[in-house]
Amino acid sequence: MSLTVYAPASMGNVGVGYDLLGAALAPIDGSLLGDRVSIVSSPAGVSLDVEGKWADKLPPNPEENIVYQCALFFMEQLNIQQGIALTLEKNLPVGSGLGSSASSVVAALYALNEYFDTPYDEQALLRLMGKFEGQISGSVHYDNVAPCYLGGMQLMLDTEHKVCGSIPSFENWYWVVAYPGISLSTAKMRKLLPAEYDKSVAIEFARNLSAFVHASYRQDAELAISVLKDVMAEPYRASSIPGYELAREALDKLGMLSTGISGSGPTLFSVTDSLETAEAAQAWLDSNYVEHGVGFSHICKLDALGTRRID
Ligand code: HSE
Repeated sequence: MSLTVYAPASMGNVGVGYDLLGAALAPIDGSLLGDRVSIVSSPAGVSLDVEGKWADKLPPNPEENIVYQCALFFMEQLNIQQGIALTLEKNLPVGSGLGSSASSVVAALYALNEYFDTPYDEQALLRLMGKFEGQISGSVHYDNVAPCYLGGMQLMLDTEHKVCGSIPSFENWYWVVAYPGISLSTAKMRKLLPAEYDKSVAIEFARNLSAFVHASYRQDAELAISVLKDVMAEPYRASSIPGYELAREALDKLGMLSTGISGSGPTLFSVTDSLETAEAAQAWLDSNYVEHGVGFSHICKLDALGTRRID
């Protein structure tokens, strides 16, 4: 038995929902933007090979890789004696704001669960994904693992029985994402935020997020765009992302409807309902925000499928 699993890139926060909203990404050119994990049987023990464009940015010792650690944990918890050989194809840059660690963890745990006949149900697996991703990003927040695993736009609920719930998205929106090429540590970007916020900011945050969710259910794009604002993180992170503020201004002039930081950056996202405007935005970003040969940009829709087998 062998299998391969794909886990899509994701945008944490989606601007308006710090730690509470996230969405999975699907480039409209049909390419798969996310990590892949394969498992085949082996005589004994657990081994990991790492390949792919961004493999050399990971720890050289496979035992320090989170995918290997997921596998060890899984086998120990379930007392599995069988041998397995894993391969991680690392297609997302580390510290990019595209849910790179979530993609590896989700692909690994989903693949292990499939390989060993689904011992974990969806919610238990999601909690496990959050726990392992939290070891890399510095704290447990599900806004990358949840959409990466389940697809679409996910709102974090974090109740006893349900980690998140899917909310409707706008089918005609294009999400232009641009990764400039530098790496930023999520843990460090989290430290830039204040420990406490003014009451007025708390109210504005709640109003924006609840109005965005309300507008998503009503499919009221105008309302959704008018509240797609980040009062929680962007004011404290923007200046640490080289070129971000300039790009935001330029994208606004090009007619993009809203621009924000994807996760903790440095990737930015920008929304429009016009493919022509999305293409103009991508061209601007490629010339002015993305470092040639290192960074990249994509015009995306949301990935409704989430993590899946592709073997
Ligand atoms: N919600 C997280 C943050 C996403 O903004 O820090 C990054 O993993």
